[in-house]
Amino acid sequence: MKIGIIGGGGVGQALGAALLTLGHEVTLGIRTPSSEELAKPRPQGKPLAEWSAATGGKVVTMAEAASDADLIINATAGEASIAALTLAGADNLAGKVLIDLSNPLDFSQGFPPALSKQYSSHTSVGEQIQAAFPEAHVVKAFNTVGVGIIVNPGLITKDHDLFLSGNDAAAKATVTELARGLGWKSFLDLGDIKGSRAQETIVLVWLQVMGATGSSLHNLHVALA
Ligand SMILES: NC(=O)c1ccc[n+]([C@@H]2O[C@H](COP(=O)([O-])OP(=O)(O)OC[C@H]3O[C@@H](n4cnc5c(N)ncnc54)[C@H](OP(=O)(O)O)[C@@H]3O)[C@@H](O)[C@H]2O)c1
Repeated sequence: MKIGIIGGGGVGQALGAALLTLGHEVTLGIRTPSSEELAKPRPQGKPLAEWSAATGGKVVTMAEAASDADLIINATAGEASIAALTLAGADNLAGKVLIDLSNPLDFSQGFPPALSKQYSSHTSVGEQIQAAFPEAHVVKAFNTVGVGIIVNPGLITKDHDLFLSGNDAAAKATVTELARGLGWKSFLDLGDIKGSRAQETIVLVWLQVMGATGSSLHNLHVALA
């Protein structure tokens, strides 16, 4: 599948590399893919020129990454996601599956962060993306686990779940299939895109668990009676 990842941070890089290994065609989209920008260090990732050399993936503009792709992944900070997807271009998103893995974190008062007010009162980034780009099939997924587990879910040998929310059943089936390729086995469909609100609050639990256990390699499992 042709996949355009919007965002060249640690998550975009790691997920892009994993999807390339699985045989997908992956491009990463950033705002200014100049040689100076590609050489810059990136927090939690490599300089993007090194990422390209190591993986064979291309780094292009956000619009180029989206226009070429069959499926798009938003891997930008939650607070910047609408701006980034606007650069990707509404026409380039229309009719396509758009995975939103962002979390709207406000670090203004240090660590641990809070959820950004703008995206957490009776709304969420996932819902606002769907409202801003009504012709895209937005699926909230992968935001509830650390990147090490996103790309290698088998590191946790017990049952653990990938949550999905979105309005389009076919889009959720496509995302489930993509995730199966990465090794995901257990899925919990939380319903329409409003489920994104619940998914985005899970990041607070995730951060607290990381503080308590010292590990980013953890996930939730819902056990029914
Ligand atoms: N870390 C994890 O384990 C984990 C797990 C699950 C989900 N997440 C979520 O994944 C997302 C990506 O995280 P990350 O650490 O890889 O990257 P990040 O640093 O949050 O975001 C990187 C990207 O955001 C773009 N960006 C920033 N401000 C922008 C703006 N105003 N307009 C347009 N684009 C803008 C940057 O574009 P340029 O390259 O052009 O600067 C960059 O490519 C976040 O929402 C995070 O909460 C993280």
